[in-house]
Formats: sequence, structure tokens, C-alpha cells
Amino acid sequence: MLLQVHIGPFGGGATRSRLDSEGAAAAAREASAGPRGARAAREPHSASRRRASLAVFRAAAITAWGIVGGQMILAPDAPLYRALLGGPAISVLHLAFGAALWANTRRIQGPSPARASVALLVLQLAIALLVSPDLLLLVALEAPLILTGRASLLWMAVQVPVSVARPLAAVAGYGVFVPIPALHHLPYGEAVAISILWFTVWQGLAFAGGHLAATQYRDAQELARANAELLATRHLLADSSFLAERLRISRDLHDAVGHHLAALSVNLELARVHVNGRAVEAVREAQGVAKALLADVREMVSRLRRDRPFDLCRALETLVAGTSDPEIHLALPETLEFANPAHGHAIFRCVQESITNTMRHAGARNLWIDIRRAPERVEVRVRDDGRGADDPTPGNGITGMAERFADAGGGLEFESAPGRGFSLRAWLPAGGKAA
Ligand SMILES: Nc1ncnc2c1ncn2[C@@H]1O[C@H](COP(=O)(O)OP(=O)(O)O)[C@@H](O)[C@H]1O
Ligand SMILES: [Mg+2]
Repeated sequence: MLLQVHIGPFGGGATRSRLDSEGAAAAAREASAGPRGARAAREPHSASRRRASLAVFRAAAITAWGIVGGQMILAPDAPLYRALLGGPAISVLHLAFGAALWANTRRIQGPSPARASVALLVLQLAIALLVSPDLLLLVALEAPLILTGRASLLWMAVQVPVSVARPLAAVAGYGVFVPIPALHHLPYGEAVAISILWFTVWQGLAFAGGHLAATQYRDAQELARANAELLATRHLLADSSFLAERLRISRDLHDAVGHHLAALSVNLELARVHVNGRAVEAVREAQGVAKALLADVREMVSRLRRDRPFDLCRALETLVAGTSDPEIHLALPETLEFANPAHGHAIFRCVQESITNTMRHAGARNLWIDIRRAPERVEVRVRDDGRGADDPTPGNGITGMAERFADAGGGLEFESAPGRGFSLRAWLPAGGKAA
């Protein structure tokens, strides 16, 4: 489904420099040399630490999977399934489980998990139920990496009873009447009760471990993002207050100093008419100095207004460097300067909200942000490869963005369809006048 808030013509090309998220991080470090830089540079390290701890977690899970496979080959404990499926089928299922585990532990997902990952988790649960109860522990460990909050608890509320019910429902005569065959010498009720306890405690423990790891990972990610947002906003504030201060100084120079110098010139002209002798030369010289001063002040005023307008690149690079998942591909022109800081703010907030939306709603791996500058306009294009939305209704985020661009004389449109990601285009006139 295609939804458009406001449509306008596309602008032309612009000079661009490509920056991926690593490049952006490096650029942010470079841009923030000195005491500021120390903070900006911390972010990529924390991202690589997170990646390293996830790699260790993943290696441990895959090793456990390998050990379960080895156990099944050496001492198959589920004769029913071996009889029904045969050895090769079990091996194929075990390999499929391993492949799904490999794919699903590549990243820790946010509030909108990719549908494919949830489907793989369901497949893993089915294989674990068929092949080995030990694999259920790995599913319990993995579930909180894919599902967050209530969804992961709900998953466990289903997984544990199903895993207990599976052997109970098995066909008689294959030694799997009780969930844990080793307990078959106990009275049936006791064996079942102990089995339920065993399944619940071990799967609960595995789930708690996965949950702890995933929560810490997500919290660290969120902290890095919030830190980058703060740093970027600080750059933005510093740049815009610097600009505002220059404007104030240029106005004061023009209105106060300029005015008084003009008055001085007029008075000196009057004085020249009324003095004679050696004073004439002195007054003429003073007149010349006053004129030169007036010209200097005018030149300073225009230079203060002209030089170093508001450049957004540094703030955007810092903002983007705080997000490692989804991977952000940022393309910026050489400079992104605005005489009117409100225009820069509109673009900054648009990029910020797009990152937030992609994390909250899309479950995307990649986010492309492309800002182009044409002679007449500046255009922002944002696109992700997430799940998209059937009929997205603008909430506060998109409405706020559209309002900012409309106020700046531009516009915004977006489109999305299930499975086709979300894309947004916003534009505003390039030549904003200084406020
Ligand atoms: N990247 C995205 N992928 C999928 N859906 C999205 C995306 N961005 C926005 N949406 C949809 O558009 C809606 C409106 O977004 P927004 O105006 O930012 O409000 P909010 O984020 O507060 O829900 C969202 O609720 C969501 O359904
Ligand atoms: Mg939003």
C-alpha cells in the first residue's frame, strides 16, 4: 500500500561523499578532536565489545549443540523417534537445528523481531521436541534473543508445557511414557512430577541466562544510542548558539557602532566647515579615519553573516555512530550548511525519528539515509529493508517531521508495503535566510 502525505517534485543530483556506519564513527571521532572526541570515540569500542560478547555466547551455544549431536550418535535416548524417523532423518533435523541456531544468534533483536527469525525459532522447537529434550534448553536460551519482554515469557509459557506433554503423549511400548525415561522405575505420578520439575527448572534457567544476556546487550545498545543522541544534540546546540551569537554581534555592530560612526562622520563634516587654520587638516584626517572605520564595520557585519553557516554533517555523523543495529549507511554532501538553523533542525529530527522508527517498527538489518543538496533544495531520503507496514498511520513522529518540513517551505512523503520496507522522502528549499 502506498501512502503519501504530501508530494512535490524531486530535486537534481548533488556532490556526495559516501560514509557507512564505521566511516561515520571515524568521522565523528575526527570531527570531535580534543576532550569532546574522547566521548565520541568510546562508542565504536562499546559496539565491538558487544559484538565480541555475542560471538562468545554464540560459540558456546553452537558447542552445546554439537555435544547434543555427539550424544545422540553415541547414545540415542529416544528409541521411538529413532525407530520412526531413522538415523539419517535425525541427523538432518539436527543439522537444520544447528543452521537455525547459527542464523538466529547472529544478532540480538529489538522490539520488532524479523519474522524469519521467529519462524526459525518455531522450527527449532519442533525439531527439539522430535529429536532431543537437550535441544529444548538451547531453544529456551535463544528465545529471549529474538523475542523481547512479554513475548519471550509467553513463548516459555508455551514451550515448557509442550515439552512436558510431548513424551507423555508418546505411543506406549517404546519406553517413553514418562518424560524422563530414566525415572520409569518410580511410580508413574512421581516420575511425571519430577520430570515436570526437571523440565521447568532447566529450561527456566536457560531462559533466564539468555534473558540476562539479551537484556544487557539491548540496554548497552540503548545507552550507546542515547549517548550519541546527546552528543549530536550538543554539537547542534553549540553550532546553532554559535551562529545565533554571531548574528547578534553582527546586528549590534551594525546598529550601535555603525550608527555612531555614521553620526561621527556627519559631525566631523560640520566641524570641518567651522574650523580653520591647522585644525582643518586634523578634522579632515579624523573624517578619513571615521569613514575607514565605518567601511571596516560594514565589512565585518557582512562577513559575520556570510561565514561559517550552520553545518549539519558533524551532528548527523555523531548521531548515526551510536547505532550499530540496524547498520546505517549514511550518504552526505561535502557540506550541509544552513543559514537558517531551523532547516538543519528539521533534517536532524527527521533522521533521528527515522532511526527510532526503524528500530521500533521495522526489524530491519539496514537503514539507508541519503541527503542530497541541489541548487534549489535539500532532500532527505530514508529507506530500510525491514518488514514494512500495510497501512501506516502517521503518529506524533511522522506528523512532527511533516510539520517541520512544511514550516520550512518543504514537504514530506512516505511509502511502505508489507515485506518491502519503509521509505521516506522529505525536502526543503536550499536557500534559507538567516533568522
Ligand atoms: N521503519 C518503519 N517500518 C515499519 N513501519 C513503520 C516504520 N516507521 C513508521 N512505521 C509505521 O508508521 C507509524 C507511525 O510512525 P510515527 O509517526 O513515528 O509514530 P510512532 O513511532 O509513535 O508509532 C508507526 O506506528 C508504524 O506503524
Ligand atoms: Mg516514531
